[in-house]
Amino acid sequence: MAMAPDLATIPPFNPDLEGAATPAAVSAFASAVAVADGLLIATPEYAHGIPGALKNALDWLVSRSEIPGKPVMLVHGSTRGTYVRDHLREVLQTMSVRLFDREAFELHLIGKPVEDARAILDDADQRARIRAHVAAFADFAAGPGLPTA
Ligand SMILES: Cc1cc2nc3c(=O)[nH]c(=O)nc-3n(C[C@H](O)[C@H](O)[C@H](O)COP(=O)(O)O)c2cc1C
Repeated sequence: MAMAPDLATIPPFNPDLEGAATPAAVSAFASAVAVADGLLIATPEYAHGIPGALKNALDWLVSRSEIPGKPVMLVHGSTRGTYVRDHLREVLQTMSVRLFDREAFELHLIGKPVEDARAILDDADQRARIRAHVAAFADFAAGPGLPTA
């Protein structure tokens, strides 16, 4: 499992810079998406929406070949943030991904000190739950599947 490149390196989307003029950071991000068997997206919610850096990175992919049909699983570390989940689903469906599960996989980490959050993630039951969900996503990603989104 690999982390995406730092989204802060990606310049603001500009359709005039698609094609031959594509910035290197965008090409690197698109390549990382291309080689991934699936994407796990986890994000905070800002002002009831998608954080600008994430939306910007997704905007660069809209007219490209890497994202359509890509299996995507949403992970959410909060019990709140229902707006961003709806926005993300709408955006990702528009981009023709294969969305796994309409509901985001929730981990209740919000507001917890780092040590408490780590303890939750280290808990045997939580680990089993995470492993089972990621395994189900891996099966989904490996499957033939027409776009479900
Ligand atoms: C500018 C800003 C706007 C935010 N807007 C929302 C919001 O609309 N809804 C929400 O549930 N949380 C909102 N939050 C909280 C974040 O989603 C996130 O839970 C918080 O930054 C804690 O993240 P951390 O645990 O990574 O520090 C906002 C945070 C910031 C800094």
